[in-house]
Amino acid sequence: MDGNGRWASKRHLPRNLGHKEGIKAMMRTAKACNKLAIPYVSFYAFSTENKNRDKSEVDGLISLMREHLDSIADDLSQFGARLNVIGDISYFDSDLQNKITNVQRSTQNIEDRVVNIALNYGGRDELIYAAQQYKGSKIDRPLCDFLYTAGQPDPDILVRTGGEKRLSNFMLYQLAYTELFFSDTFWPDFSDKELNAIIDEYYNRDRRFGK
Ligand code: FPP
Repeated sequence: MDGNGRWASKRHLPRNLGHKEGIKAMMRTAKACNKLAIPYVSFYAFSTENKNRDKSEVDGLISLMREHLDSIADDLSQFGARLNVIGDISYFDSDLQNKITNVQRSTQNIEDRVVNIALNYGGRDELIYAAQQYKGSKIDRPLCDFLYTAGQPDPDILVRTGGEKRLSNFMLYQLAYTELFFSDTFWPDFSDKELNAIIDEYYNRDRRFGK
């Protein structure tokens, strides 16, 4: 969800207001994906590297999680989507960890749609975690069964907003054959119209999976 900071700076607003606006865009997009019958959608909200930003920005992002996770889970459940947090939540204080566990529990019976929100997520961390679980496992199962996204299909589409053209440590295993889309739009301005255009272009791509 790139471009929140620049969206705010352009308006002479603090960066965290950009992130707050980013939550609105996230909910709008989750709803639009639901309408398009997309069963899984993931939002990269806070990476393992984002912890190295200024303390005020990190604290601001953590406050937004504290303030908004309940209503996010509630809104998602209204349209039949389950909230699933991916990432190493042990970084957060115990209050926030409990909140994350509780909001996930509140929607755990929903099966139609899954909305992953990545919090303190790193693709490399995830692979190390999966390898450790894999090594300790007594039954023979594929590595992907131990990723944070175990049981979910690999993404068909990745959209990176804000003009950047890199993966930034996101779903390094899962993105092997994902179709990549790069947009100059700052995340808070990301619209249903742009999402629909991406889906249209996706259907025109020839996916060969190396064949
Ligand atoms: C990247 O844009 C965005 C982030 C690092 C944070 C995204 C987080 C949210 C939208 C809210 C998270 C909260 C909840 C409750 C899920 P940037 O700040 O790097 O933008 P820039 O490239 O313009 O500086």
